[in-house]
Amino acid sequence: MTEPTPSYSYCQVTKDILQGFRPVEAKFLPKDYPALSNKTAIVTGCNTGIGFGVMRLLYEKNRNVIGEVKRPNKKVLQEFPLSKGSISIIGNCDFSDLENIPKVALEIKNALSGRPINLIIHNAGLMSSSNNGTSKQGYKAMFQTNVMGPQLLQYFLDPLFLKQDDDLKRIGWVSSGAHLLRFPEYGINWEDPGFTKVLVTKRPSANKLYGQSKASNILQAKAYATKNREIFDKMGCISVSVYPGNLKTYLQRYWGWLRRKTIGELFFDGKYGAYTELYAALSPELTVKDQGSYVVPFGAVAPPRSDVAKGLLNGTDLKFWDMVDNMIELYKEIAYI
Ligand SMILES: NC(=O)c1ccc[n+]([C@@H]2O[C@H](COP(=O)([O-])OP(=O)(O)OC[C@H]3O[C@@H](n4cnc5c(N)ncnc54)[C@H](OP(=O)(O)O)[C@@H]3O)[C@@H](O)[C@H]2O)c1
Repeated sequence: MTEPTPSYSYCQVTKDILQGFRPVEAKFLPKDYPALSNKTAIVTGCNTGIGFGVMRLLYEKNRNVIGEVKRPNKKVLQEFPLSKGSISIIGNCDFSDLENIPKVALEIKNALSGRPINLIIHNAGLMSSSNNGTSKQGYKAMFQTNVMGPQLLQYFLDPLFLKQDDDLKRIGWVSSGAHLLRFPEYGINWEDPGFTKVLVTKRPSANKLYGQSKASNILQAKAYATKNREIFDKMGCISVSVYPGNLKTYLQRYWGWLRRKTIGELFFDGKYGAYTELYAALSPELTVKDQGSYVVPFGAVAPPRSDVAKGLLNGTDLKFWDMVDNMIELYKEIAYI
């Protein structure tokens, strides 16, 4: 970064971290969801955890869900035999290899068969317990899975999504309170966010790397809206980032027993994460004025860390988006659509 980065208060950060354990009450619940049929949502990482909960709640409400996963799990279909919605699961969506993504997007296009996309929730995410995971393309695995993969997928979905074809259009980029503790310059290690230039042994801790990927999601949500402002205004589309909560899901699968039994025990049931993501996706409380906002557990808007919040106003989000775009440029050329 060339300009000085705004500073932030550690006191505020500590307060915000504690807030994750004292979330606002979930008020926007399944009974409040509009029971509109013929709406289609794309949800990544919906074979487990929060994504699975989101798919379940949407299907129950007669919505069509196109889920992208590494390993398909369709057990929701048996749970709600009367649902008039549909579930199409697209397997082999593995963000750790960017070459997969164009093919996944083509399969989504086929599954849509001309229907509009109403909602996109970039929910899939990886939280490793070590700093040594590296993607097929040589980037730190969490950065590629949580940041580059979703941005590349979105590039291929744009021709299908950025259309004035329905009154409900929203997109959520799933972030985390973990962004609070990370790199001082807007949460990002700008020189080398994918940690390709240092030995694995010189990489920062896994927590720090996960936090960077989640600060990235906050920047992406705002940048995506700004980049597409004209069509967004016509579509009435809203793009937000979402911190779903501190939740017991498979995300903590790499934690040791002691950590799961101590910190993990303070976490909430995973269903609250689905409520938060669906607040972001469906709540009428959010309007175009909330473009790029940060949704916090279990359904409210709050500012992210103060430097990241400033980054959403001073163009840092756009710089970040362009930097990631350069990193994925090569894979955009694989023309499947
Ligand atoms: N749980 C929390 O406390 C918490 C807090 C803040 C933010 N979040 C965020 O919420 C989102 C959902 O997490 P969760 O708690 O539901 O965790 P989860 O149960 O582990 O679910 C994560 C999903 O992402 C998928 N995924 C992981 N690596 C992938 C890859 N390389 N390519 C494609 N998909 C991949 C997983 O697929 P596989 O199962 O096949 O690996 C799984 O479906 C994540 O973005 C996470 O960062 C969670």
